[in-house]
Amino acid sequence: DLGAHPDHMAKEIDEQPGVVADVLARVRHRTADGSTWVGLGLPPFDRLAVVACGTSLHAGQVIANTVRSLGGVPTDTVVASEVEHVVLGPGTLVLAISQSGETADVLRALDRLDDRHPVLALTNHVHSSLARRADAVLDCHAGPEVGVAATKSFTAQVVVGVTAVVSALVASGRLEPSRAVALVDDLARLPERMAAAAVVAADRVPLLAATVRDAPGFLFLGRGPGLPYAAEGALKVKELSYRWAEASPAGELKHGPLALVDDGTPVVVVDHGDPRLQSAIAEVRARGGFVVTIGGAGSDVPAVARPADATDLAWGRSVAPWGPIEAVVPLQMLARELALQLGCDVDKPHDRARSVTVR
Ligand code: BG6
Repeated sequence: DLGAHPDHMAKEIDEQPGVVADVLARVRHRTADGSTWVGLGLPPFDRLAVVACGTSLHAGQVIANTVRSLGGVPTDTVVASEVEHVVLGPGTLVLAISQSGETADVLRALDRLDDRHPVLALTNHVHSSLARRADAVLDCHAGPEVGVAATKSFTAQVVVGVTAVVSALVASGRLEPSRAVALVDDLARLPERMAAAAVVAADRVPLLAATVRDAPGFLFLGRGPGLPYAAEGALKVKELSYRWAEASPAGELKHGPLALVDDGTPVVVVDHGDPRLQSAIAEVRARGGFVVTIGGAGSDVPAVARPADATDLAWGRSVAPWGPIEAVVPLQMLARELALQLGCDVDKPHDRARSVTVR
């Protein structure tokens, strides 16, 4: 039932604040005391390897950044179809992420891995093939996702995943419980931030999309914790609009991607308040590129209004280890709007399936 929404993607984008609030209500009291992790019954780990594809891989990058920066745990993010080219050391926990739990590349990757690595599944389908194969399962609790392009399942994967790793870091003594409480308190403001981001984006995105819709290709830039969101923004444009969209770390721009920037080339910058993004923005503008900043206070499509007395982890003070989660809302809305203005079906893009069960 679409209710007042024009399509499932719009509905599922809108559902995100509610999904996050629901997830946090389930896991909040079990995060800072380590009990989420203890309840999984998995052995301790020294390294983490995330295995996933597409949007789930981007969620995995956010989770890997979190465990690395908060706990100093070495992490790998592995594209599922490339798993045979990586070597996982002893003590590695495999975190396999898949909305559907049926993506063949992910299931095959697990078959190829050495059995001694415990597997934790993060999925929206707890009775899926992935869940059956795993040693322990985390449920995303995103509810049914009908639109082919993942939206709310991404956000749910991020929130369930980062709270689970925070819990694991507390349980292993790598993170102080008081720090975990502060981090979870910051996440508790996410539903409100996402809703606010959606209101601003609804106002600004249609005109932005109209300005850039005839461009043959798009560049998405980010840095550090902002990078998975830039990659996700680019993937959404590719999947929905059938346009080239490349994501690049902002610092890599000068090593190649800048050559793609010409008069009017749209360059979407995920701005999480890192001043080093400014030099990339200046380089793009010097070549005539059309810069769209998304996220930070004062950007073209802000995802956060920073109160003058902010004492939390809001951008511009210190960046949360999971980066600018709320920035995904304007990125999803931009991709959807672009696709609609180009006459594409946002719920059923051609050649795309809800889950790819072939390899
Ligand atoms: C792709 C879909 O083929 O599979 C992507 O088009 C999706 O949108 C990816 O992110 C992974 O799917 P899943 O179900 O494993 O998360």
